[in-house]
Amino acid sequence: MAGRPQLARSLRLGFLIAAIIGATVGSLAWRQVNQERHTDLDDVNRRAQVLARQLAPAATKALELPNAEAREELKPRLRGYRVLLGYAVFRPDGVLVAAGDTVSEFSDRLEAAVSRTVRTGADTIARARFQGTPIDVFAMPLEPEPGVIRGVLVVAHDVTFIDDRATGRLVQFGFWILILTLLTVTLVVGATWLTYERPLHTLAEWMRRVRTENVKEAPPTGVPSALLRSETDRLAASFRAARSTGQRLSQAAMHAEQVWTRDRLRAHAIAALGEDRQLIVVSNREPYMHQLQDGKVRTIVPAGGLVTALDPVLRACGGVWIAHGAGDADRDNADAGGRLTVPPDDPRYTLRRVWLTREEEQGYYYGFANEGLWPLCHLAHERPVFRASDWEYYRRANQRFADAVLDEIGGGSAAVLVQDYQLALVPALLKAARPELQIGLFWHIPWPNPEAFRICPYGPEILAGMLGADLLGFHLQQHCNSFLDTVDRVLESRLDWDHFAVELKGHVSHVQPFPISVQPWSERKVPGGEELAAQIAVLKAEHKLGEVYVALGVDRIDYTKGLPERFRAVDRFLELWPEYRQRFTFVELGAPSRTHIPRYRDHIAELEKLADEINWKHQSDGWKPIRFLVAHHDAATVHAFMRMASMCIVSSLHDGMNLVAKEYVAAQPEREGVLVLSEFAGAARELADALIVNPYDTEQFAAAIRAGVEMDAAERHARMDRMARAVEEHNIYRWAAAFLTRLAATRTVAAAGPLTAAAPDARIVS
Ligand code: F6P
Repeated sequence: MAGRPQLARSLRLGFLIAAIIGATVGSLAWRQVNQERHTDLDDVNRRAQVLARQLAPAATKALELPNAEAREELKPRLRGYRVLLGYAVFRPDGVLVAAGDTVSEFSDRLEAAVSRTVRTGADTIARARFQGTPIDVFAMPLEPEPGVIRGVLVVAHDVTFIDDRATGRLVQFGFWILILTLLTVTLVVGATWLTYERPLHTLAEWMRRVRTENVKEAPPTGVPSALLRSETDRLAASFRAARSTGQRLSQAAMHAEQVWTRDRLRAHAIAALGEDRQLIVVSNREPYMHQLQDGKVRTIVPAGGLVTALDPVLRACGGVWIAHGAGDADRDNADAGGRLTVPPDDPRYTLRRVWLTREEEQGYYYGFANEGLWPLCHLAHERPVFRASDWEYYRRANQRFADAVLDEIGGGSAAVLVQDYQLALVPALLKAARPELQIGLFWHIPWPNPEAFRICPYGPEILAGMLGADLLGFHLQQHCNSFLDTVDRVLESRLDWDHFAVELKGHVSHVQPFPISVQPWSERKVPGGEELAAQIAVLKAEHKLGEVYVALGVDRIDYTKGLPERFRAVDRFLELWPEYRQRFTFVELGAPSRTHIPRYRDHIAELEKLADEINWKHQSDGWKPIRFLVAHHDAATVHAFMRMASMCIVSSLHDGMNLVAKEYVAAQPEREGVLVLSEFAGAARELADALIVNPYDTEQFAAAIRAGVEMDAAERHARMDRMARAVEEHNIYRWAAAFLTRLAATRTVAAAGPLTAAAPDARIVS
C-alpha cells in the first residue's frame, strides 16, 4: 500500500519534532525544578541560621562547663520539631558535647561539617543521609571573640519534603511533556499528511495516469507550493507535448509513407506505362514560352493551373509535351521540328511546339475555346459566342495537335494525356488513327449541366471527340455526373452508371474524378531563408506593406475569378470596420490573360477603375487598401508574396479546382495564414478548413475577411495544418500516379466507326 511508508515517514518526522520539543521542555523543567529545590534549601538554611543564632549564646556559655554539665544544660533545648531534626554541639576537636535525640543517632555523619567549620572559621552547609533520609546540615562556629572558636553548633533539618516536591514537579513536568509529545506527533503527522503527503500522493497518481493512460485531466489543485504547482503544469504540458509530438511523429511517418514524391511517381510511371510506351502530354498552353522584351528574349512560365500541375509530372517522368508555340520568340528558340528540351536550366523532357497561324489562333483559341467553350462551362453569366468560322479553326487546330502527337509517336506506342477544353477533339482523332494508343483526357474546367451545354451548336461533335479517350478525368464527381448526364441527353450511346463508363460505337470511355493538385514549393527554385526574408523586405518596402496586415490574391485576370466581388468585399470590410484603415492592405497579383478578347481587355480596365474608386474612398497618408499589380509575376515573386501574406483570398465565381488556393496552403510551412475561399471553386471540397464564402454575398464575404483577420493563432494554426497536410498528401504526383494507373488499367478497344466530329450517329435528344 502506498500510504504506509508515507505514514511511517510522517510518524518519524512527528517523533523527531516531539523529541526536540520534549528535550527542550524537559531540560527547562529540570532547571526549573532544581532552582525551586535550591530555593527551598536556601529557605531551610536561612531558617537554620536563624535558629543557630538564637541558640549560639547559650551554647557558647555552656561550653565553658565540663561536658557532662554542659550536656545537662543544653539537652532540653536541642530537640527538634517536625522537619527540624534537632541540634548538636561539638568541641573544636570534634567531640560531641550534646545533641537532640534524633540527631544523636547520626551525629557521626556530622563530623566532616564540624571539622570544616573549625578549619575555615565560617558557616558550613552540608548534606548527609541517614537511613535513606536526606538531611540538611548547617554548622556554625561558636566564637565568643573573633578568632577564638569554642565549639561548633549544628542544626539538622530533614529535607525529604524538598526532594519529594522536586520529584513531584518532575513527574508533573514529565506528564505534560508526554502529553505535548503525543500532541506534537499527532499534529505533525496530521499536518504533513494533509498538507504534503496526501497531495503528493494524488500528484504522483495523476502523473502516473498522464504518463500511462494519456488522460487529459488538469493537474491536482492541492499541490503544495506555487512553484511545484507551476512546475506540475509545465510537466503536464510537456508530457502532452511529448505525447502529441510522438503521435505527430508517427503520423508524420505514416504521412511520409503516403506522400507521393517525384521519384516515386517516376518509378510508378515506368511500371504503369511499361518500358516501351512513351508519355506524351498535349495541351494548348506550353510550359515555357520565349518572349521578346526590350529586344531581349525572356523565358516565361505562363500563369495558370495547367502548367503548374503538369510541369512537375513531366519533370518526374520525362516524355514529350506538345503545345502551341505562342511566344513571339518561340520559333527562334526551337529546332526545325519545333523541339527543345526544358526546363531550360535543367532539361528533363522535350517540348514540341505546334505552330498555328494568327487566324487559327484567333479562331480556335480566342474564338471557339475562350469565347465559346470557356463561358459555356463556367457559370459566370458571360454569354458564349459560337461562330462557324471559329469552329472550323478549332477543328483544324485540333487536327494539327493530333498530327503532332502522331508524328512524335511515330511507329512506337504511347500513353497520351490530352489536356483541357481547347483540345476536345484530339482524343477521337488519335483513337481513329491509332486505336491501340492509351488516351486520357483531363478536363481542367467545370463541366456544365446538360441544359447549359445544349447551347453549343457543336455539342455532339465535342462529346464524340472527347469520348475517343479511354479515360476522362474531371476535378469533381459532380462534373463527372454532369458529363454523363450530358452524354446521355446528347449522344446515342450506352451508359454504364455503375462503372461510370460510356460506350460509343464499341469504344468504352471511363469517367472519373481526379482532383488536381500542386508540387511542394520546396522542390521549386524559389528563395528560402535569408534570401527570402530579404526579398520580402524589398517587396514590402516597394509596395508600402511594412506595417500592415497583408491579404493576397493571385489570378489570371479572368471574369470567372470574381475579382470585382473581391474588391467590393474589401471595400465593405473597411466600411464596416474602419479601424482597419491604415492597417490592412489587399494585394492582387493579376496576370493579364487572353487580352485579344475584348471582354478580357475590358475586364482589366474595369478592375483598375474599381480599385481606383475604392482606394480613393479610403486612402490616406500614402496608404491604399488595394494594390492591384497587373503583370506577369514569376514563381519566386508569387511565393514571396504568399509567404508574406497573412491571408489569401480566392473568390472564383466558378472554378474547376483553383490551384492558387492550394499553392497558398503549400506555402505555409509555419501553418500561419488564413485562406478565404469561394464555395464555387473545386478546391473548397478539399479545403474545408478555409473560410468558405459566397463571393456574390458581399456582406458575408466582408465578414469572412474580418473573421480571418481576427482569428486567434491556435485556430489559424489548426485549420492551416489540416489543409497543409491534405495538400501535401494529395499532391500533383499522387494525382498523376492515380491518373496513369487508371489509364493503364483501361482496355483500349477500337471504335467500330469514326468517333470524330462528323460522327454520323450523333444526335441531340431533347
Ligand atoms: O483553368 C483552365 C485553363 O485552361 C487552365 O488549364 C490553364 O492553366 C489556364 O486556363 C490558362 O489559360 P490560358 O492558357 O488561356 O492562359
